[in-house]
Amino acid sequence: MTRTVVTGGAGFIGSALVRGLLEDGAPRVTVIDNLLTGHLENLEEVRDRVDFHEVDIRDYDAILPLIHGAGTVFHLAAIPSVPRSIADPVPSHEVNIDGTFQVLRACLDGRAARVVYAASSSAYGDTEVLPKVESMAPNPLSPYALQKLTGEYYMRIFARCYGLETVSLRFFNVFGPRQDPSSPYSGVLSLFIRAILERRAPTIHGDGEQSRDFTYVDDVVGLLIKAARAPGVAGRVFNAGNGGRITLNDAWRLLQEFEGVEIAPVYGPSRPGDVRDSQADTALAMELLGHQPRFTFPEGLRLTLDWFKRPPDIVRLKSATAS
Ligand code: UD1
Repeated sequence: MTRTVVTGGAGFIGSALVRGLLEDGAPRVTVIDNLLTGHLENLEEVRDRVDFHEVDIRDYDAILPLIHGAGTVFHLAAIPSVPRSIADPVPSHEVNIDGTFQVLRACLDGRAARVVYAASSSAYGDTEVLPKVESMAPNPLSPYALQKLTGEYYMRIFARCYGLETVSLRFFNVFGPRQDPSSPYSGVLSLFIRAILERRAPTIHGDGEQSRDFTYVDDVVGLLIKAARAPGVAGRVFNAGNGGRITLNDAWRLLQEFEGVEIAPVYGPSRPGDVRDSQADTALAMELLGHQPRFTFPEGLRLTLDWFKRPPDIVRLKSATAS
């Protein structure tokens, strides 16, 4: 049985992927994560089936033996956030570009069969036409967008020049359980959910009419697993989105409805590097990867809200009784 490796496997999306792989039949999963933004608690219930390595992806010598001989390497480790990359571009450059290069080198030298990469919808920037389709010219508007696009180009180059099987998925604003709301750079829905549960007003940057194709994490996990198996897609790039488009005002409105409260948001200045509208054309991923999003935005938001509302002890209690 070939090994599966997930970089960034202790993060919000990475840990959901680890869970998905185990449910899908993988006996064990190797996780590489430096715990900069990830948390071991994210892997709590599956810890006994995870080979966890607290290692930085920039450390080629450390990652090579972990990647060596792997069947699929899912490369999700990154420093996310558009505003963080503007405020502090050096770490995100080093991790998102240099780190990605080291992962690819290790995959090539370690003869990994396939690399599936977490690219970003931010590569599109502002486009005149929606939805955004893979054939459009990229137009990155921030260091983060450029870094993720560079990673994608590296995937393509390693496929073309060295024959490594790489597949890039452009994630569209993924949300769901375990998304960490503790930083001002956190994904907006995790910040909104924390605000509504604390009965506080959220901050909306701009007029709130900007829109996103918020994609529920389990749908992205499903697509990642499909991308690891699909034939004839080496070097290609696919949108990993839901296909819908929701404004921030509507997202906040829905949360108020769910909770039965009325709290007016505080509107602040727009963020530099912010994209106005984002929506995925999902046709290519459907055709070649079998993408089939299962969760509408309200369904995903409800599940996420319920997760954040769970009694804090439940997860810990379960794992304590299991061991
Ligand atoms: C971008 C990418 C996304 C990627 C993410 C990584 C686009 C379209 N999307 O997300 O694919 O996964 O980076 O970090 O480029 N906002 C508020 N109040 C807040 C926080 C955010 O109004 O407290 C606004 C932002 O200004 C933005 C929207 O919410 O308009 C979404 O922000 P965020 O969740 O940070 O993600 P993006 O920057 O869109």
